[in-house]
Amino acid sequence: MGENIVENIKLLKSERNAIILAHYYQPSEIQELADHVGDSYYLSEIARDCKEDVIVFCGVKFMGESAKILSPNKKILMPDLDAGCAMSDMIDENGILELKNKYPNAIVIGYINSTAKVKAHCDVCVTSSSALDILNNVDNDEIIFLPDENLGGYIAESFPEKKFILWEGYCKYHHNIKVCDIIHLKNKYKEALVLVHPECKKEIRDLGDYIGSTTGIIEYATNSEKKDYIIATEEGILYELNKKNPNKNFLIPGESISCIDMKKTTLKNLYETLLNMDNEVVVEETVRVKALNSLLNMHKLAEV
Ligand code: 13P
Ligand code: SF4
Repeated sequence: MGENIVENIKLLKSERNAIILAHYYQPSEIQELADHVGDSYYLSEIARDCKEDVIVFCGVKFMGESAKILSPNKKILMPDLDAGCAMSDMIDENGILELKNKYPNAIVIGYINSTAKVKAHCDVCVTSSSALDILNNVDNDEIIFLPDENLGGYIAESFPEKKFILWEGYCKYHHNIKVCDIIHLKNKYKEALVLVHPECKKEIRDLGDYIGSTTGIIEYATNSEKKDYIIATEEGILYELNKKNPNKNFLIPGESISCIDMKKTTLKNLYETLLNMDNEVVVEETVRVKALNSLLNMHKLAEV
């Protein structure tokens, strides 16, 4: 197999009428062979609209589940079903029901990084690229936002007239990025721009020349004339940044920012998944139908 594994994946993909979707945090070799690579919002649209019978989702569980919720008639496979998202597991059904009881008049806005069961209790989902547009189209003054307190805090700063009730979840990879590591790079690369994902803490966002989703960061760097960039997000994004900008210099603060779950996809388990057609993402139908509403509202309100 060895070198031919990529060719074999492509062969199996066409035999199975499958499409491969990958998030920007996936390993480089997976991004290289995927049919579509993107941020959470873009991938959710492709999962909704693609014509293939099978989607192999190279990402984490909430992404595979969102694809299944949006496209119940497609087979959604993941190379490793254990690729989860620790932040999405920081709230469960009981947590969200408690909040709804406490704030009965609030609208519930859920980050797409949440489980299908939690989405089933949300009114609207958002992604980091769509959150501000969606909030602009939400009339409610009281908002429960979950599970990411950092993204929630970032959104709340743009809507000071609204009351936000934030669940205290976080992505440990973004949450642990340190101010001193950014300052250290800034001292070395005086002209560097700091591009920050909104899952980072406020003190990091405050250092940002730009704050946005993975796609936003890639577009910003690609459209800018500057040479050096400090990238405050997961390092898988470097593959696309370097591909689009071979003459620019992208620096990750600290030693490494690598999400262990995003890196569970390998060429081997991707090949085996297509060969065996196993590792299917399953969402219970009653949960799926309820969760669908929140994702449809996301697409609707992001595109007004
Ligand atoms: P985006 O790619 O939508 O910016 O989200 C990042 C993320 O949290 C994936 O885990
Ligand atoms: Fe979840 Fe953070 Fe990994 Fe994204 S990078 S999948 S938010 S743990």
